Amino acid sequence: MSGRFSIFSMDIDYSKILFPRKLPLDLESFGGFKKTVLEIGFGNGEYTAQYAASHDDTLVIGMEVSPSCIVRCLKRAGDLSNIKIIRADARFMMRELFPDASLDGVIMNFPCPWPKNRHAARRVTDASFADSLSSVLKPGGTFELVTDEEWYAADAASALGYFEGMTAYALETNPTRAVTTKYERKWLDMGKNITRLLVAKTDVFVGAASVSRKTWEFYRENDDGGECDMMHIRIDKALPTGGLGFLFGTGGEREEAHWAFKKSYVSSRAEDSYLIETICADLDFEQRFYLKLTERNDDGKTTTLIKPDGTSHVYLTPAVRFAIEDMANRLSTQAQA
Ligand SMILES: C[S@@+](CC[C@H](N)C(=O)[O-])C[C@H]1O[C@@H](n2cnc3c(N)ncnc32)[C@H](O)[C@@H]1O
Repeated sequence: MSGRFSIFSMDIDYSKILFPRKLPLDLESFGGFKKTVLEIGFGNGEYTAQYAASHDDTLVIGMEVSPSCIVRCLKRAGDLSNIKIIRADARFMMRELFPDASLDGVIMNFPCPWPKNRHAARRVTDASFADSLSSVLKPGGTFELVTDEEWYAADAASALGYFEGMTAYALETNPTRAVTTKYERKWLDMGKNITRLLVAKTDVFVGAASVSRKTWEFYRENDDGGECDMMHIRIDKALPTGGLGFLFGTGGEREEAHWAFKKSYVSSRAEDSYLIETICADLDFEQRFYLKLTERNDDGKTTTLIKPDGTSHVYLTPAVRFAIEDMANRLSTQAQA
């Protein structure tokens, strides 16, 4: 069966993992579910699988940063056809993946609280979360947060409830929930309280809630309606004859984007292609991947193509685009020197 592998006799369906080539996601392409719900930071995926099993009219999209959690969730998801999983940082990707008014619910169980003030930006409910949530929720859609840190729920309640068109309901202590998580049971067994916050996007909300997206403009379609892959630049130059060592440690910054080039590796001698380890950050949203440089000679004209290596999964953020442009400039200048 395509996309399925057996690891230690456990059937894992890797086709449940989303690798979008285009943003925002086309939710219709998943087969017309009645509702769509996003779960942020699903951990071992227990809640995700149970929720999906008991809501078969709902597409459940799980978003996690941890690769090992993704594997654990896939194991639990088994044959459920209404689960999709994406490895992404919700602080950035919730708004980039989802169109305005596209989600019926966002669920977050026991987020890492990052209690120190200097780590506040690492909280999923950071300063931009309210904007993003109010954009992606449908009118009437809800955000449910469960935490063992009451202050975290209270902070989120005041940030979100203050927002035009959002209503934060009173915090609940130790609510009875049909589906529970590992952390929930652990805290309750320890005699600790858990707190639930429910926020709704009020359906009388008339303003066009929309937040600006950093990536969408790069994914726009060609005039002929085809997908526009702007993730490459071709320069009319051969690769520098002295090697690529001069790139190591270079990089740059522009607006909220930073990028750095690290080691280079031969990708294919037959093709004259090389891989450059690249690190890009758009504020806190970091991506590591390889840029592939491939030299080609057609009818006596030599060019070099610069693009992310096909095995790297990269979101085309401003930092990635600036890094590709910077690489093109550096190679052109070095080739002339
Ligand atoms: C304390 S665990 C809770 C796991 C699970 N929800 C539960 O209740 O058992 C928090 C989870 O959030 C994930 N996480 C942390 N920051 C994240 C982010 N910015 N985007 C997505 N997931 C994140 C972590 O990898 C971790 O699995």
